[in-house]
Amino acid sequence: MCATYIRCAAERHLGRESMGTLMQATLPACREELLARYAGSVQTVYLDPPFNTGKRFEMKVRIGEKGYRTGAPSMSLPAYDDRWPDRDAYLSMMRETLTLARDLLKKEGTIFLHIDCRMHAHMRLLMDEVFGESNFLNEIIWSYQSGGRARTYFPRKHDVILFYAKSRSYYFNIKAVPIARSEARSNHMKRSVDEDGRVYRSIISAGKEYRYYDDEPAYPGDVWDDVSHLQQKDPQRTGYDTQKPVRLLERIISCSTQEGDLVCDLFSGSGTTAVAAANLGRRFLCVDQSPLAIAVAGKRLSQTTNGRPMGVCYDVEAPCGEDDCFVEAEVFPAITSYTVHLMNYDSVEAREAGITGLDAVDQWSAGFVQGDMYRSCVASVRTVGTPALCSTMEMPVCAGEPCIMIVDIWGNRRFYLPKRRY
Ligand SMILES: C[S@@+](CC[C@H](N)C(=O)[O-])C[C@H]1O[C@@H](n2cnc3c(N)ncnc32)[C@H](O)[C@@H]1O
Repeated sequence: MCATYIRCAAERHLGRESMGTLMQATLPACREELLARYAGSVQTVYLDPPFNTGKRFEMKVRIGEKGYRTGAPSMSLPAYDDRWPDRDAYLSMMRETLTLARDLLKKEGTIFLHIDCRMHAHMRLLMDEVFGESNFLNEIIWSYQSGGRARTYFPRKHDVILFYAKSRSYYFNIKAVPIARSEARSNHMKRSVDEDGRVYRSIISAGKEYRYYDDEPAYPGDVWDDVSHLQQKDPQRTGYDTQKPVRLLERIISCSTQEGDLVCDLFSGSGTTAVAAANLGRRFLCVDQSPLAIAVAGKRLSQTTNGRPMGVCYDVEAPCGEDDCFVEAEVFPAITSYTVHLMNYDSVEAREAGITGLDAVDQWSAGFVQGDMYRSCVASVRTVGTPALCSTMEMPVCAGEPCIMIVDIWGNRRFYLPKRRY
């Protein structure tokens, strides 16, 4: 019943049309490929890079069904390393990334660079250098309540998002991001009712009356204090350190793109940009060096169908050590469908961590392989709502050889031909 390991160079998951691509690669390594495929075709880039914090970041993963039901067992795995030999090494990585982002953008495109007080001044100068001072649009302050309580200086409660255009013919639509008109902001104004019964606040300045109707939307300024940071118990939380809220990305994407446009994130982490883009009907190109990041992003996307089937392409380096895996899976062909069973999974990582059987599997799917392209038809993903994996799945007959793909809790993606039962 032992399944045969195979390599697949590309993956396509569910959905007939692909909404986007998740690419696992380090930026210098995929630069040429990105330029060859996407130069001049991206409408908006969002970048949330490492901030030169000198820290290592982790992801908390839940183990098996019990881990999802109760939160334990779980373990922390390395997600990414934000330690740099010196500031120049960091700045040189950022200069290369910003140059790549500029070359990927369309003429009408814009870029949002998320940064904190550590590197903000350097990034402002670097953005001026790469995009041109005259293409600066905003320095957005994202102000939040969470974070530490410093006593030797004021607590640091904001990030900065630098917003630049690629050229003067950029696209921007503030009307796409209305916000509630706040009582607090308008209660210094005189409240009146007009001849049609509509309530408005007014203020007279330089002899001119300005009216703000209560039933008309207001729009954000460059200080955003209405998007909260993810709280400890927020259901959006994936366990990936430094995850940003979907609402923040939805605001950025809504005002800077239109339906069908391509949004790019070159440090995509847990996939917040991909989720927000998919929610809004935009296509996405998300890159991250971490297999865990790609696994968690894929998992979030599999739950973000928004009423339509979501296709996702993956471009992932194959993990090493596959020869040491032992997978038991079988497929029963029938006339119009196949039934696939996954019985056991054992890998070097699982053995070292003392995790047995399907507890080491976080997601699996069944589909078909043609050449080196895998297309999934059905998938089972552990979530808090559905902690148990289906060990048996049925799929329609399609072209190619029946194949399964396993994503383990370390984010490794592996493909196997299940044993055929006639
Ligand atoms: C601050 S996190 C992004 C968090 C993300 N915005 C979210 O909401 O989850 C930065 C990400 O950049 C990735 N990264 C760092 N250096 C990279 C590189 N050279 N190439 C690709 N990804 C990189 C890290 O793996 C990490 O996931």
